[in-house]
Amino acid sequence: MRVLVTGGAGYIGSHTVLQLQAAGHEVVIADDFSNSKPSIVKRLVALSDEPVTVYTVDLTDELATERVFAEEQIDAVIHFAGFKAVGESVAEPLAYYRNNLDTAFSVLNAMNQHGVRTFVFSSSATVYGENAVRERTEDMPTSATNPYGWTKVMIEQVLRDLAAADDSWRIAILRYFNPVGAHASGEIGEDPSGKPNNLMPFVAQVAVGRREKLSVFGDDYDTPDGTGVRDYIHVEDLAAGHLAALEKVTASDDALSVWNLGSGHASSVLEVVASFARASGRDVPYEVLPRRAGDLPAYWADPSKANAELGWRATRTIDDMCEDTWRWQSKNPNGFPDVDE
Ligand code: UD1
Repeated sequence: MRVLVTGGAGYIGSHTVLQLQAAGHEVVIADDFSNSKPSIVKRLVALSDEPVTVYTVDLTDELATERVFAEEQIDAVIHFAGFKAVGESVAEPLAYYRNNLDTAFSVLNAMNQHGVRTFVFSSSATVYGENAVRERTEDMPTSATNPYGWTKVMIEQVLRDLAAADDSWRIAILRYFNPVGAHASGEIGEDPSGKPNNLMPFVAQVAVGRREKLSVFGDDYDTPDGTGVRDYIHVEDLAAGHLAALEKVTASDDALSVWNLGSGHASSVLEVVASFARASGRDVPYEVLPRRAGDLPAYWADPSKANAELGWRATRTIDDMCEDTWRWQSKNPNGFPDVDE
């Protein structure tokens, strides 16, 4: 297949691009590089030894988006592009709703015009909202606690309505738990701009000496060690889940399917810190601060639906995730270069 990967220069997108190519698919990347650096493209080409077509395009621009479909013979779309910082979404809700909803509408409209029917959507476990049941299953009701999360809930609803209106669509909604880790080469990985919001990149930057210490947000939760508990999934397992979902929906009779992509295992903040210290051989100093507003104590995936229906499962452990993150962070202490090396 020739697969359009929106946000293909981003963290999860870039790892998925390499796996698509390794599986024999051709890839077209559409990215505006607003939250990624163009120097990643050279690394992707070096790793895959294959050319990749890249469109630098703002996908909220319907005409520019449609032009990609007019110029390329696209068979399927994996839609990663979107803003994803929870705190920023609370401060700038209009920017989040406009960007995340408009990119989805542009891409879906262009697909409609060009008869492309296969769509894999980057959703998030955040759509389970504040459900009291910690183990999340796909049939739980969806809601959100911040504008970023609502954009995911809303786009999921748009996709359900689309599939109900026209059963020729083949849509996969993938709900990610906490993606971490990096490519085994250490050449690509997560490169947040500015101060990281998420745990693993922050821990990695402390270990490499870019930041003095980690703030642990709360140690008085109802969890075994009092710190927040999450289901961390290696980005390579997550990328593999996209390939499995793409192949499954292409061969399926269902217009829409929803799968959790998580490991089913839960780790606390302090367990991540200890694993990272082992992997890196470095100290990870931390101090305990009050809870972060909006954080939940603990939740993890029930991945059994994806395991059974996709023949996929996350195989990498939290130690693997920390070792691969460390390889990436220690080889690239400041992330991707600003200009090509
Ligand atoms: C967040 C988002 C979620 C998004 C996910 C992955 C919220 C409510 N949810 O999840 O929508 O899909 O990131 O990008 O923000 N922690 C610290 N110190 C830090 C950072 C985090 O102690 O500096 C703790 C948190 O309190 C939490 C755990 O580490 O217990 C994981 O946090 P984080 O990596 O930010 O992910 P989530 O909050 O689970």
